[in-house]
Amino acid sequence: MSVFSLYLCSFILINIGHSLSFHQSHASCLPQNHKALFVFGDSLFDNGNNNYINTTTFLRSNFPPYGETFFKYPSGRFSDGRVISDFIAGYAKLPLIPPYLHPGFTHDQYIYGVNFASAGAGALVETNKGAVVDLKTQSFYFGQVSKQLRQELGEEEAKKFLSKAVYIFSIGGNDYAAPFYNANSSTAAIPYPQQQFVDFVIGNISSVIKDVYNEGGRKFGFLNVYPLGYIPLLRILVAGNSIEDCLQQEATVLARLQNNDLPKTLQKLEKELSGFKYSVTDNYAAFLDLIQNPSKYGLKVGSKACYGGSGYGGDYSCGGKRGIETYELCSNPNEYVFFDAAHPTDNTAHHISHIMWMGHPKLSHYNLKQLFEL
Ligand SMILES: *[C@@H]1O[C@H](CO)[C@@H](O)[C@H](O)[C@H]1NC(C)=O
Ligand SMILES: *[C@@H]1O[C@H](CO)[C@@H](O)[C@H](O)[C@H]1NC(C)=O
Ligand SMILES: *[C@@H]1O[C@H](CO)[C@@H](O)[C@H](O)[C@H]1NC(C)=O
Repeated sequence: MSVFSLYLCSFILINIGHSLSFHQSHASCLPQNHKALFVFGDSLFDNGNNNYINTTTFLRSNFPPYGETFFKYPSGRFSDGRVISDFIAGYAKLPLIPPYLHPGFTHDQYIYGVNFASAGAGALVETNKGAVVDLKTQSFYFGQVSKQLRQELGEEEAKKFLSKAVYIFSIGGNDYAAPFYNANSSTAAIPYPQQQFVDFVIGNISSVIKDVYNEGGRKFGFLNVYPLGYIPLLRILVAGNSIEDCLQQEATVLARLQNNDLPKTLQKLEKELSGFKYSVTDNYAAFLDLIQNPSKYGLKVGSKACYGGSGYGGDYSCGGKRGIETYELCSNPNEYVFFDAAHPTDNTAHHISHIMWMGHPKLSHYNLKQLFEL
């Protein structure tokens, strides 16, 4: 199945209705009270952008068994099936949102929103530099989309469209985890003192929020950072690897610092920027719970990845394409929290997206459903 077949509606209207303007043709095609979804961030949201950049197999997932359950082909999502942003689009009654870098992508499709997320991306340009679309570049691409929309719809309509849309982010995890997964564990070191590092990440996230706000964006949803030292990829590097050790691991400590500080920054932005609304989902708590109590959610295996090798499936050997040729693959990914060493299964992504959509947020006034309804 092609992602783009879902856009048939707009193509047909454009082809038969030469006299219709872009706006009219789309307006007649859209569900009532339609709101677009713009997606920023990392592999938890990337739906295929990294297929189209010069990167490494470490940051690609366009080979089997990725994609084996839902799409039945490796679409470039780090999952056996869908990623979190796919489910959010579904809850919002939108079709799958196209990846910005897909070569077949044209401006006709902006109307449902666009996905800019890139696996491995961080908020800092140094993070996996040269192998990802960093957050700043994602924001630049959004600026291009916004410009195009203003040309097509006119200033007024474009502003209205962008202010009704929802902008979701999953970012920060790679900034803190990359120094560990890219290095020999015993020599890994973070590039800045802890608090300064987190301040830089949050500073860069804030500047992208302001860029989007200045283009007309008003409604923002954030997934906070999951407990990094507890994911199989880092867990095998953690000395001791007990739960306590994982929670004390430095990447986890940095994740908690960001998770503590970002909501405060968002509160400030809410006062500073008129009309700014946000939601924060506690992905950290959600993952801890999933890993420790998988059976509460109908899952069987919390800490070991479905797909990988060595301890916890943490060696990231997926598909035998990353230097390690043998790997194990579980027979039923639906029973697992992690598909590969760092990424949720379709089932886990469904669970997390449901919390984003419907959950009672502890860290903000809104969940995503409420933001879409505004
Ligand atoms: C892709 O990246 C590699 C490694 O950095 C580099 O050698 C190669 O020239 C790049 N290719 C393109 C098309 O940019
Ligand atoms: C990792 O670091 C240790 C200690 O510095 C060193 O002995 C070892 O050879 C390094 N391994 C690799 C693969 O670089
Ligand atoms: C963004 O991150 C860079 C480091 O990559 C840092 O020098 C800069 O001050 C940060 N920007 C903000 C606004 O915090």
